[in-house]
Amino acid sequence: MASEFNKNVGAQREKFKVTEKALMDRIESAPFGEKTKELARKWAQYESFGGVGWGIFEVTPVMARAKGAHIYDVDGKEYIDFLSGFAVNALGGCNEEITRIIREQAGTLTHFFDFPHVERIKMAEKLLKNSRISGKTRVMFGVTGSDGIELAVRAARYYTGQPYILTAYGDYHGVTYGTMGLTGKGNMQPFFYPVLPDRAIGYFQFPHEYRSEPGHAMDGIKAFEKLLDGKETPYTDGINGICNAAAILVSPFQSSSGYYIPPVEYLQELRRIADKFGMLLIVDEIQTGLGRSGKLWAFEHSGIEPDMIVTSKALGGGLPISAVIAKEDILTAWGPGAHVSTQAGNVLACAAGNYVLDVVTDEGFLKKVNEIGTYFLDRLKALQEKHVIIGWIDNKGLYTGLELVKDRQTKEPAIQEATFVRNRSLEEGLLFEKGGYYHNRLQLIPPLNVEKVDLDRAVEILDRVFGEAQKKFGIK
Ligand SMILES: Cc1ncc(COP(=O)(O)O)c(C=O)c1O
Repeated sequence: MASEFNKNVGAQREKFKVTEKALMDRIESAPFGEKTKELARKWAQYESFGGVGWGIFEVTPVMARAKGAHIYDVDGKEYIDFLSGFAVNALGGCNEEITRIIREQAGTLTHFFDFPHVERIKMAEKLLKNSRISGKTRVMFGVTGSDGIELAVRAARYYTGQPYILTAYGDYHGVTYGTMGLTGKGNMQPFFYPVLPDRAIGYFQFPHEYRSEPGHAMDGIKAFEKLLDGKETPYTDGINGICNAAAILVSPFQSSSGYYIPPVEYLQELRRIADKFGMLLIVDEIQTGLGRSGKLWAFEHSGIEPDMIVTSKALGGGLPISAVIAKEDILTAWGPGAHVSTQAGNVLACAAGNYVLDVVTDEGFLKKVNEIGTYFLDRLKALQEKHVIIGWIDNKGLYTGLELVKDRQTKEPAIQEATFVRNRSLEEGLLFEKGGYYHNRLQLIPPLNVEKVDLDRAVEILDRVFGEAQKKFGIK
């Protein structure tokens, strides 16, 4: 049995293996200029094959500069940026004010270890003022998203004294050793062996309307609650009032798995279940937060209050920082020195992030995100009427996922087609990523201050490319 298991791991690994020659071949056939190709060849020669760039695109363009919703490769080719550095550049590339702040701060103080400084205290104050959690809250800083998740999990386990963390299949919370067990992605698991991910983790189904029977999207959560009511999970013994779980940790919307938006009842039900069994509710707002969904935090769409929020990505205005905001008791349970990270709360990131927070907490700004988001959605709906390949659109604010299907009746995932659309769009100057449980979804992440003209150009490119895809793959 064990050897069979290992053989499978070997086979799984084999599937994803590449050679330098294969990468060079990809570069030769990539639709890029000579300077980009030259640098891509060096990239293929110097860096580990394990980098995400080779996993996400055939070849990732080598970028030289960015301005607003535009990003330029080293040959000067312009792309409309619907990736935004994976939801980091929420206020656009090289935002003038952020650039000015970083320049000024760099001449004053850049780093002071994981210690207090003026900008960090300002950021803590702003985060607490805008947590939308009632009662007293506190904050603790990290560097990356994964780092923030690890911190939240540690704090929740420390505070409750319980080991288990419950999360949704398809959620992405990072791939560090502390977070990889929380990331339910089958295709990443072979990369984690021989160390097994954290086992004090349980999963439930993430609800999404499109592939559920009408009215049954929440069935997985109902079934999960029934299990918790009994005594046959390690997480609870509902009969005897035992809870072994510290927290439910979830993304309000599932981002890295394909920009899926669940029914509003999802977080409401998880809040109720967490309260019923005495678990904390932690929301991972790393990708959904800070205005992306048209509200400051995506959990606000459900009208619930979490116990803890993890934020990162857009928070640093392009520089790495993460923060955990939690109810007072949770972050005061441990003593001094319980957590440390050399680069946490970096001065430059806090200075830039304070500007980001001022912008995204402004109601007028959020109103504009919603207005432009609605405009974008209307244009996408018009595309859906024209192109049968678009099976479903998820949208809130500027959080948008499109699901491509070969047939609207059977909902057969259009996997090759999605790759074709992504690649051709890149060629045409529109940069975005694809994802989805079946690799058939487009994740469209423009900066939050994107102009209409750029949305229009993106829609024109998509219109053309969807037409080509339908023709090429015979979809009617
Ligand atoms: C929802 C979510 N959580 C956690 C992470 C991990 O963040 P990082 O890559 O900064 O460690 C990501 C990254 O994409 C994410 O989208």
